Amino acid sequence: MINLIVVGICGKMSGSVVSAIDQEQDMQIVSGIEAVGHPLISQPIGKGFIQANLSSIIKEADVVAEFAIPEITLDNIRIAAKAKKPYIIGTTGLKDLSKIKQYADKIPILISTNFSLGVNVLFNLTQKTAQALKDFDIEIIEAHHKTKRDAPSGTAKKLAEVISIVGGNNPTVHSIRAGDIVGEHTVMFTGKGERLELIHHATSRNAFANGVIKAIRFMYKQKPGLYAMQDVLFSK
Ligand SMILES: NC(=O)c1ccc[n+]([C@@H]2O[C@H](COP(=O)([O-])OP(=O)(O)OC[C@H]3O[C@@H](n4cnc5c(N)ncnc54)[C@H](OP(=O)(O)O)[C@@H]3O)[C@@H](O)[C@H]2O)c1
Repeated sequence: MINLIVVGICGKMSGSVVSAIDQEQDMQIVSGIEAVGHPLISQPIGKGFIQANLSSIIKEADVVAEFAIPEITLDNIRIAAKAKKPYIIGTTGLKDLSKIKQYADKIPILISTNFSLGVNVLFNLTQKTAQALKDFDIEIIEAHHKTKRDAPSGTAKKLAEVISIVGGNNPTVHSIRAGDIVGEHTVMFTGKGERLELIHHATSRNAFANGVIKAIRFMYKQKPGLYAMQDVLFSK
């Protein structure tokens, strides 16, 4: 049985992750973390309770998954590294990745701005297309619900990164924040007299939660190191 702690347990994304974990036979929630003063601290969750202090409970976890706010990620990684527990970072908008990555020699850390299996294939398709269409103008258009804190999305930044790796034209990124859009990304390649669009729509957070389940099983078995969803997708 894989024991899990979810940080930001009362959030929208964590809600989908908790529901997905409840459907699995080989994993269970042992605690969830919210900030001090959150009204649901001490309420039951899975086999345990919602708590404000990761360090006091981390010994009970096999894997920690975080969907919260970027301001707390580094402190949590330090706690996980001390306890030698694998850590999955789903939180986006992280400012200083280099400090986080330093801990990858102590514990397995997986960072993914998007756990959807389709988006991770979109990264591959975008890279291949940018490599083939070097002269085309590239636009990235992303749309999310209006309570999303960061813009552009972590996924849009990652799409721009894979384009730059192969020397594609520097893309312009357009962000839309409206209503309850779960997550949409379009990469538009425009040349003379033609346009190619790669489009991904997440219609529910289940798209991300399914990827998180695969990531949890993958991380449970890993040695220290820095991992991405590409490792999860293409591992045997
Ligand atoms: N990688 C992916 O596939 C993926 C998919 C969806 C979302 N995300 C990312 O996941 C993060 C959360 O998104 P969301 O839509 O679920 O947002 P959300 O609904 O606002 O959830 C964030 C949760 O974190 C809690 N939180 C705030 N401060 C905290 C602290 N100090 N300690 C512990 N918990 C704290 C929030 O509590 P309060 O409500 O009390 O502030 C809330 O319950 C964002 O960065 C988002 O971009 C990633």
